[in-house]
Amino acid sequence: MQAWELFHALSRPFSGMYNLSHGLVCAILLPYIVKYNWKYNIKMYSQIAIAMGINNKFSEKELAQKVTDKIFELNNILGIPLNFKKI
Ligand SMILES: [Fe+2]
Repeated sequence: MQAWELFHALSRPFSGMYNLSHGLVCAILLPYIVKYNWKYNIKMYSQIAIAMGINNKFSEKELAQKVTDKIFELNNILGIPLNFKKI
């Protein structure tokens, strides 16, 4: 299962149980899913890192690992809560 399928699947019960928008729940869950998933597809996540503007001076593995923090950073800029306790 790919990361985007997993956080979509997980977002459905959270959205329903807590009456939150699907997009908000997806945004909160995404970095946690990526944090778990990046190591299973280093090539793809390294490409995502470069597309997100992360400097490609790093190794493929380091780039893939940095995607999680970049998503947390973007979520913070957008005011997306860090977790469901913050809502
Ligand atoms: Fe969606």
